[in-house]
Amino acid sequence: MNPSGGLFWHLHAWRHQAQWTATCADIAQWLGQMPPSKDTHSELVIVGASAGWMMPSSWLQGFQTVTTFDLDRWAAPLFRLRHGAALRASNTALQCNTADALTDLDAVLQAHPRALVLFDNVLGQLRFHTPSVDEASRRIDTITARMHGRRWGSVHDAFSGRTQRRAGSASAPIMQRSVQAPAPTSAASQPAQSATRPVELGRFSRQLHAQGEWLDHLTDHVFPAGTPVHHIAWPFSPGYCHWLQAGWISP
Ligand SMILES: C[S@@+](CC[C@H](N)C(=O)[O-])C[C@H]1O[C@@H](n2cnc3c(N)ncnc32)[C@H](O)[C@@H]1O
Repeated sequence: MNPSGGLFWHLHAWRHQAQWTATCADIAQWLGQMPPSKDTHSELVIVGASAGWMMPSSWLQGFQTVTTFDLDRWAAPLFRLRHGAALRASNTALQCNTADALTDLDAVLQAHPRALVLFDNVLGQLRFHTPSVDEASRRIDTITARMHGRRWGSVHDAFSGRTQRRAGSASAPIMQRSVQAPAPTSAASQPAQSATRPVELGRFSRQLHAQGEWLDHLTDHVFPAGTPVHHIAWPFSPGYCHWLQAGWISP
């Protein structure tokens, strides 16, 4: 059983497309801000691509080669179904792989040395794929350290939990931007950190109408200090919302 993909995910994504329109528009806006490439041949590698439910084909069409990886055996045929025709129209070569691209990250990076790498809503899922929270955190740190020197980006869950907001309600929280703060040192106390938190993010979290305690997806150290971070609301299902964070890193 795949805890973050598989048939349940595909059915859920297919059924909620209308409720996720604003979230997908925010993601599309962020995707469009990817770091520029100096290469004449532009290549994209997507890890955790699933069927690419939340990205527009038009963004993928800007690449000459798109290579996807997902553990889920339904991901490759559904990705081709959703984006294949558009990519054929733009002469973009598409290769979809059913594989564990995180355990084999070295091999993936070596096989695609100049590609832009997108972790597509996968790093925040690792706590469900790893036996302990500590091990999941260590795994995320190892992955991000391995990306040093590469052009890469990630959109991932930061938090998720119950909300009073109804999916598709008119005033969706507006995407916010911040800059990744340095990792806290042992001398930095928690109250000092919250005092420096941007006002906009406080407003954003209130707009999510969170109820109770939210789940921490262990992604607060994914981005190096100074990375511009987009904050995106994702009304995952009625009464349940995810706080997504998205950022691009260039060497
Ligand atoms: C939330 S879904 C991603 C959604 C997808 N980006 C979309 O827009 O449709 C997370 C995906 O990550 C995949 N995944 C988890 N661990 C993985 C790994 N080690 N290598 C490749 N894919 C992985 C899961 O199978 C699942 O399809």
